[in-house]
Amino acid sequence: MSKSLEQTEFKLSVETLAKIDGYIEQYPTKASALMPCIWAIIDELNHVPLAGVDLLAEKLDISKARVHEVLTFYTMYRTEPQADHVLQVCHNISCHIMGARGVIAHLEKKLGVRMGVNTPDGKFRLEGAECLGACGHGPVLQLGKHLHEYLTIEKIDAMLDDFKRGDIPRADTDRKLED
Ligand code: FES
Repeated sequence: MSKSLEQTEFKLSVETLAKIDGYIEQYPTKASALMPCIWAIIDELNHVPLAGVDLLAEKLDISKARVHEVLTFYTMYRTEPQADHVLQVCHNISCHIMGARGVIAHLEKKLGVRMGVNTPDGKFRLEGAECLGACGHGPVLQLGKHLHEYLTIEKIDAMLDDFKRGDIPRADTDRKLED
């Protein structure tokens, strides 16, 4: 995944701007609202373009380098337009032992793409992740803000069925960050 920042047309809705202002009010310091503010932009645009970095730096009173640093450190944040649904499967040691390889192979077969590649219709992207912080619950997959744990072939098939019906699969562990 490229982490370069492209200058693209940038316009946020009134709702997203209000959300960002709300986070700034809610956190003890402006700087500590950075991560939810990044999510607010991603929720609307599915990535944070260069102008979004400028906006956050200005609103949070921090350097653009700081925004860029956080934005490019975490694999769930995006700096470029992305597939509608990015499935990030942990392939680190604990998940590997618990069967991540089989999960990845099944997803590759079902989606018809290899890891790191978008499906031709731009709906899905399959990616590997080093560790999603749920090592005792593997194999684990992150979809947006949600962690799907104890993955099995049956669970993967159920998730893909949800997508076919136009639903976003919900994590059965309910360890979501936010709706
Ligand atoms: S090794 Fe998979 S979540 Fe940590």
